[in-house]
Amino acid sequence: MTIDQLKSQIEEIINRLEGETLIDTNVKSKYLGKKGLFNSLVKEIRNIEGSDKKEAGQLFNQLKETLETKLSNISQTKKVVDIDFTMPAEETKVGHMHPISQAMEEITSIFEKIGFTRSRYPEVDWDWYVFESLNMPPSHPARDEWETFFVDTPEEVSEVSYDASNPRKRHPSLVGGKMVLTTHTSNGQVREMERLKNPPIRMINIARCYRRQQDATHTQMFHQFEGLVIDEGINIQNLKGTLDYFAKEFYGEGTKSRIRPFHFQFTEPSFEVDFSCHICSGTGIKDGDKCKFCKSGWHEVGGAGMVHPNVLKAGGIDPEKYTGFAFGWGVERTYTLKEGLNIDDIRLLYSGDLRFLKQF
Ligand code: DAH
Repeated sequence: MTIDQLKSQIEEIINRLEGETLIDTNVKSKYLGKKGLFNSLVKEIRNIEGSDKKEAGQLFNQLKETLETKLSNISQTKKVVDIDFTMPAEETKVGHMHPISQAMEEITSIFEKIGFTRSRYPEVDWDWYVFESLNMPPSHPARDEWETFFVDTPEEVSEVSYDASNPRKRHPSLVGGKMVLTTHTSNGQVREMERLKNPPIRMINIARCYRRQQDATHTQMFHQFEGLVIDEGINIQNLKGTLDYFAKEFYGEGTKSRIRPFHFQFTEPSFEVDFSCHICSGTGIKDGDKCKFCKSGWHEVGGAGMVHPNVLKAGGIDPEKYTGFAFGWGVERTYTLKEGLNIDDIRLLYSGDLRFLKQF
């Protein structure tokens, strides 16, 4: 027998073993028993040329090892096969998305249905996008409403030379500026205008926001979603229709929106947005008593308005030709209202306490 013939026989034995059914109890002796396939092949060493005997010996050793390992795997598998299938299975723990992530997905899909696209922008952003381009020049008192976290930036990028006649000259990509943790998702407005350059724009920007506030109703990190629509002839009716659509889709048929005059630097006119309470159907009365959830039939959720011409200009869009509306508010509040939850302490949402999170 030549070495090549021996090799092909070895291969055949291994292939055969591979094809064995796992529950054959005689399988071990069939291969490694006294009269097994291995021993019969070993006898062939007599017929191998003297000069090849050494190599043949090594091949036999390898084959023995391979057979032993494979057979022991088989017997382990066999143990598993012996398990009583009628025993009840161990409970597998199935996780789920965090309730706020679920809410973000739902909000996204509601707006996608009417042609909005979700954009993502930095959560550590230039002062320009977070405040200044939104019609809030440095030291404007309106900035105080946002309890801002400032970020140290290297000297070379924070050096600015302000030219009042040309506010865009402060644009950070040109001259630097200060950085902050985004206090609201409105930083996406001018960024989206720059990205798309030409209307129509229909953006939904959902992101983390940060403010220096931490108590039962605030977390330092929270989420907002921001809508922005710009095109020719966009008016308040379009805004109101969009708000009503969202109210109905998110809270259910019959939920309405209401807008009340307010002030924001980046919109004119500006509004606060309320949704009717879906627990008492906006009546303020539940089971003959004052509705405990809303007390008045309405819930305040956030802000909205028609994009200020200065903001359009900052984004390089001609306010003579185009108009737009924007709105923005907190995901946490929007979501807890939906569930009819009066969470005593909103910080629970981010406590990582599974006993709380498992309920959603
Ligand atoms: N950015 C505002 C805030 O954080 C909310 C807001 C108000 C967003 C009016 C808007 C808007 O887009 O038009 O309080």
